[in-house]
Amino acid sequence: MTAASPNTSADIAELLAFYASAGVDEALEEAPVNRFAEAAPKPAARPPAPASAPRQSSPQDRLASEQRLTPERPAAGFDASRVPDAPARLMPATAAVPDEAQAALARQLASSAATLDELRQHMAAFDGCNLKFTAKNLVFADGNPEADLMLVGEAPGRDEDLEGLPFVGRSGRLLDRMLAAIGLDRNSAYIANVIPWRPPGNRTPTPHETEICRPFIERQIELVNPKVLVNLGGPSAKTLLNTSEGILRLRGNWRVHTTASGIAIPAMPTLHPAYLLRTPAHKKLAWRDFLEVKAKLGSLATS
Ligand code: URA
Repeated sequence: MTAASPNTSADIAELLAFYASAGVDEALEEAPVNRFAEAAPKPAARPPAPASAPRQSSPQDRLASEQRLTPERPAAGFDASRVPDAPARLMPATAAVPDEAQAALARQLASSAATLDELRQHMAAFDGCNLKFTAKNLVFADGNPEADLMLVGEAPGRDEDLEGLPFVGRSGRLLDRMLAAIGLDRNSAYIANVIPWRPPGNRTPTPHETEICRPFIERQIELVNPKVLVNLGGPSAKTLLNTSEGILRLRGNWRVHTTASGIAIPAMPTLHPAYLLRTPAHKKLAWRDFLEVKAKLGSLATS
């Protein structure tokens, strides 16, 4: 072992715990490779662009240059001080852009999307959230954008990442049964997540990642304009209902999600299906919440 390597079993256990929490849960090769360092931009000598054909700058380029983007902050969510005796080649690469600039860019792109298709395209082209680079797919939405009901979860898991669709794994199957219990399915509901890219190892998205992705889900809700919103779990409720209360207190009580254009959408925070799989005794609470949702949809349909 080199001098910078962990050299006690406690160090090694701590380093492995760090890897696991960062989503590094599979060994592919004997020796670690720092892909961030490989991906770091190399200064390349480029021939000057011909003066007669200036490149068209994209909205991303324009905002980036307005904000004078420089590699000045560590990658979002990466805290080097928590890595015990990390070898130098594992130390953090720097993010290309500061988080606030990314959130500003996300706001600009989201508000400029006039349709869900445009929004999806802007999100697919957006490079400002690190989660995109570890995810296999953008998980935009499933279901019917014309539906009266929209449900928003937290972030895709492994199955969703592989298929590019929200709630297709175990918790998705439970969600389908919950919808069926109130006479709905994916033709009569629209489903999305606060975060559209799978966090590595299914870790909790960082506050920075949530702030960067928030404009996209807010615009998605605004464009769908459902009659009723259901927040599946605490992270969705906290992000979209502007509250820091816990989900067990929030659930079962109507709240309001207000869109950027000022439309007030009744919102029901409820328990996340993944939580219900771990805590089946609480399914009866979610059942009550879904009955509330059914009644609200019925009353809005007749009013
Ligand atoms: N959990 C979520 O919050 N969203 C999904 O799409 C899947 C699981």
